[in-house]
Amino acid sequence: MKTKVGIIGAGPAGLMLSHLLHLEGIESVILEKRSRKDIEGTIRAGVLEQGTVDLLIASGVGERMMREGHTHHGIELQFNGVRHRVNMHELTEGKSIMVYPQHEVIKDLVAARLKAGGEILFNADNVSLHDVDKQSPKIRFQYDDSDHELSCDFIIGCDGYHGPSRKEIPDSIRKEKQHIYPFGWLGILAKTSIANPELIYSNHDRGFALISTRTPEIQRHYIQVDRNDDINIWSDDRIWTELKARVETSDGWTLPDGPILQKNIVSMRSFVCEPMQYGRLFFAGDAAHIVPPTGAKGLNLAMTDVHQVLQRGIERFYKTGSEDLLDRYSDIALRRVWKAQRFSNYMTTMLHRNVNHSPFERGIQLSELDYVTSSRAALTSLSENYIGLPLEWEA
Ligand code: FAD
Ligand code: DHB
Repeated sequence: MKTKVGIIGAGPAGLMLSHLLHLEGIESVILEKRSRKDIEGTIRAGVLEQGTVDLLIASGVGERMMREGHTHHGIELQFNGVRHRVNMHELTEGKSIMVYPQHEVIKDLVAARLKAGGEILFNADNVSLHDVDKQSPKIRFQYDDSDHELSCDFIIGCDGYHGPSRKEIPDSIRKEKQHIYPFGWLGILAKTSIANPELIYSNHDRGFALISTRTPEIQRHYIQVDRNDDINIWSDDRIWTELKARVETSDGWTLPDGPILQKNIVSMRSFVCEPMQYGRLFFAGDAAHIVPPTGAKGLNLAMTDVHQVLQRGIERFYKTGSEDLLDRYSDIALRRVWKAQRFSNYMTTMLHRNVNHSPFERGIQLSELDYVTSSRAALTSLSENYIGLPLEWEA
């Protein structure tokens, strides 16, 4: 088999790249180890930055999102039992975020690729990469019980944090920088009514809590737990008790509850792999970087990796033969990645209860929240990062 661009992984990064390349007339093949049902059913992100919303619309896959998603003009930050609204719309000159689940974005992109005749090979097994530092790299894999080889001009590793592609960078070149947080997030999907018109990020003595939404009938909420907790120690009753305690306010507001449809725990890390390119192999999304979810940046960063540089760099290569933009991919992408790391670390540190903190450190944390919610300058900074920093279009 032969194609121009071989993409490993049908997450947001891989699917969006394949879609954008198709719009430029460049063919690609996606190899995905899971089934279509699996990737379309995995519950993860919920918040799309303004830039991601614009990209989905401009590339023709935003119609259902505009119909079914929820536009939010701000968030609420809660501490000491009091809520503070952050009016992001006003602070960013009219921008907003969209609450539209990641698996719905995946469904829209898969449908668009298949409708356009795009090739996504689901259940591709034992993917391995070869000759990535040569002009014609190859991917070997098993599909339909037989062995295959795909020759490409470029391979793009969009295979998430646990995928095989990153390990192709020799140890002598690859630098992995990471920070592990002592927290985990227990996320639930529950059948209950919308709790609040906007997301609530709450710092509480008992730990962080986040109130989000999916549809008018289904809600998505999170609580900070120990990263090593087994989900079985968290009964539905215990989860609701904890959520309610962490988001209740002094004016008597209560959180609506209901049957929990799904619950799981994710651990939290910050991770950056440098560089994001080796020879004809490029990395995008979680394959190259992980952020803790408090800043709602992971999916959005995956989208900008492919949109800001990769798509344009590949397009330029096929139009002019020049690899100059692709050669700068890593430098350009990493500038944005580090800014998102900084913001995600800031939000995580400010909002989570750290049991190792001294009373002094706890005092500083609450004072940070007091400052950020009372200073227009600080609120503007938080808002422009949360909504998404502008893309830097380099020539
Ligand atoms: P992935 O979505 O991980 O996709 C990688 C794909 O590669 C997978 O389908 C996988 O099956 C496939 N793959 C792996 N190995 C192989 C292999 N060997 N062969 C073939 N295929 C392979 N981000 C936001 O922007 N906003 C949010 O609100 C937000 N909230 C989050 C909440 C939670 C609880 C979590 C866990 C994450 C959240 N994120 C959020 C982060 C976001 O979900 C990820 O950053 C995003 O999925 C990254 O997309 P990706 O395409 O890079 O990787
Ligand atoms: C959701 C996830 C996040 O990480 C976040 O910061 C806000 C909302 C969500 O799943 O709805």
